[in-house]
Amino acid sequence: MYQGLINKYREFLPVSDKTPVITLNEGNTPLIKAENLAKKIGLNCEIYLKYEGLNPTGSFKDRGMTMAVSKAKEDGSQAVICASTGNTSAAAAAYAAKAGMRAYVLIPDGYIALGKLSQAMMYGAEIIAIKGNFDEALEMVIEISKNYPITLVNSVNPFRIEGQKTGAFEIIEALGDAPDYHFIPVGNAGNITAYFKGYEEFYALKKSSHLPKMMGFEAEGAAAIVKGERIYKPETIATAIRIGNPASWKQAERARDLSKGIINYVTDDEIIYAYKLLASTEGIFAEPASCASVAGVIKAQKLGLIEENKKLVCILTGNGLKDPDSAIKYSQSEVKKTDAKLDEIIKVMKF
Ligand code: F0G
Repeated sequence: MYQGLINKYREFLPVSDKTPVITLNEGNTPLIKAENLAKKIGLNCEIYLKYEGLNPTGSFKDRGMTMAVSKAKEDGSQAVICASTGNTSAAAAAYAAKAGMRAYVLIPDGYIALGKLSQAMMYGAEIIAIKGNFDEALEMVIEISKNYPITLVNSVNPFRIEGQKTGAFEIIEALGDAPDYHFIPVGNAGNITAYFKGYEEFYALKKSSHLPKMMGFEAEGAAAIVKGERIYKPETIATAIRIGNPASWKQAERARDLSKGIINYVTDDEIIYAYKLLASTEGIFAEPASCASVAGVIKAQKLGLIEENKKLVCILTGNGLKDPDSAIKYSQSEVKKTDAKLDEIIKVMKF
């Protein structure tokens, strides 16, 4: 039976027999071939979607959190803390619950999707909504964790990166080699750092023949790395990546440069277009920030950055169900109401 990514990739992770494995059987997510999407955008390549929204709390954060919370438990810690745009807080709260630890989460008041907030509440976290953004919240939790007996579980915790690198292992195992291009949303830049670490490690072990070009995409209103400066008031509808001072900025640039990839941005309109296209052509519902990877493919194609007949992987970082407000707001579907009468229903169906 599959028992989570620590047990699966134990030999590649900093764990020992003494590490208590706190797992919800995260990882092992499907890599789905997106033929309809490739056809629709006219790209003569194989596109694969790594659907991280199928992790236990609905995002890729579970990969990092199983490691971070297991190591915190091993160290005897009794509480974890994080700043979050929503997904990290959901994952931290869930794994802390499983570990019998307390979780404190700092979120930007009013800028977290409803599903994510409901998760942190249900898993029993202490939720503190600040009148400020993610970057400010991160500065505060770093300070608090220095001065109080509480483990920081944002991606500045290196165990988070260790857990998240397993996504790259799974991709290489599924494809039999690394892809040619790896498209990924960039917020705090932990995940692009983690994937590149995973690709580098498997390449060094000769489990792949090359490194993929790392193609990272920030949201236009939060594109600090692209613009080369901190953004003090980041804005985007993709609240998960509404981040103006990415903690892993330097590591993301390293991944970009060593892989001969790019870090670019996509607009909110491009994100929404990809969000709807993905759901309507592939039957995959991913949250808006996730769709920055697919929007990135479309942009890179337009810029002539993708060679033909190559293999692309897009990371779909979070489940669409996390953000029902955005789905209802941006989908063009209307709900047609009728009386509970057969003839009226048939009429609405336009038969
Ligand atoms: N996609 C989703 C759905 C996210 O929740 C995040 C980050 C990212 C992409 C960007 O990943 O930060 O590693 O570059 N969410 C964090 C959070 C910030 O608090 O949940 P990154």
